[in-house]
Amino acid sequence: MSEPAILFVCLGNICRSPLAEAAFRAEAERVGLNAHADSAGTGDWHVGRPPDPRAQAEALRHGIDISGYRARQAQTADFSRFTHIFALDGQNLRDLRHIAPAGHGAHLALLLDMVAGRAGEGVKDPYYGGPEGFAETWADVSAAARALIERLGR
Ligand code: 4NP
Repeated sequence: MSEPAILFVCLGNICRSPLAEAAFRAEAERVGLNAHADSAGTGDWHVGRPPDPRAQAEALRHGIDISGYRARQAQTADFSRFTHIFALDGQNLRDLRHIAPAGHGAHLALLLDMVAGRAGEGVKDPYYGGPEGFAETWADVSAAARALIERLGR
């Protein structure tokens, strides 16, 4: 298989999808998998901004510095640049289907479809809650990263 290119997509690209990207990069590095990874938002409100400080703090708790990440909006061209596009929740998945070109070859799915027993579930949006929500986000995206990498390695 050619090198996988994975895009993680949430609403703002400042909370959930940067953490998903970080967890995936860390796990890929741990197992020695060469993969391209990026994240994006369906919305454009935070384009150019670094991740939410609470997301940065959560990543740092796991030894990962995501302060250099910058938000961008998902675009139609992403469907030809990435082999896999993972939506963090069901609304993100619907919004991605709206911008997907007909006949695109990317694998488009919910991120938690990767995790046994969690298919169809969304990763809860922690933006309006407290820091514990970000720990829950991390638990979800790191479980998904491990499961995804196991599948990619097969
Ligand atoms: P994210 O969280 O989609 O996980 O990055 C959000 C970030 C910003 C907003 C909503 C969710 N917002 O409404 O600005």
